[in-house]
Amino acid sequence: MKRMLLSVAVACIAVVSVHAADEKPKYTIKQVMKFFKEEKLNEKFLKGEISKEETQKLVDGFTAMGQQKPPKGDEKAWKEKTDALLKATKDGNKEAFGKAVNCGACHGMHKG
Ligand code: HEC
Repeated sequence: MKRMLLSVAVACIAVVSVHAADEKPKYTIKQVMKFFKEEKLNEKFLKGEISKEETQKLVDGFTAMGQQKPPKGDEKAWKEKTDALLKATKDGNKEAFGKAVNCGACHGMHKG
């Protein structure tokens, strides 16, 4: 019985957190950067070695980036960049992804 109550409680928490994700970005920009720097998901994507779960992580990450404002720079240019990343990831388009994931180009414009 105790076990069952516990799983009900866990299910409730899960529902609440899924709901919160609708309103709040799932990741901060810095967290998404870790997908590049630490997990090398950008390299995996370009090599075609990325898993389905990792691709979903990038989709969620780029969506979250687009929901936030960059530390500096034009918001419209930012949205264009995050949208391009999102689209290339969803399409599995390596060429477009390679262009959109240009670290220096985005940092020069938007990194605080
Ligand atoms: C679409 C824009 C964009 C692209 C592309 C991008 N970055 Fe970033 N990056 C940012 C922004 C904006 C910040 C600053 C985030 C902040 O201060 O909240 C940042 C910060 C960082 C940081 C510092 C994170 C920290 O904790 O302070 C690292 C490391 C980083 N990026 C790595 C990379 C690498 C590696 C690539 C390329 C593979 C890359 N980024 C591509 C926008 C981008």
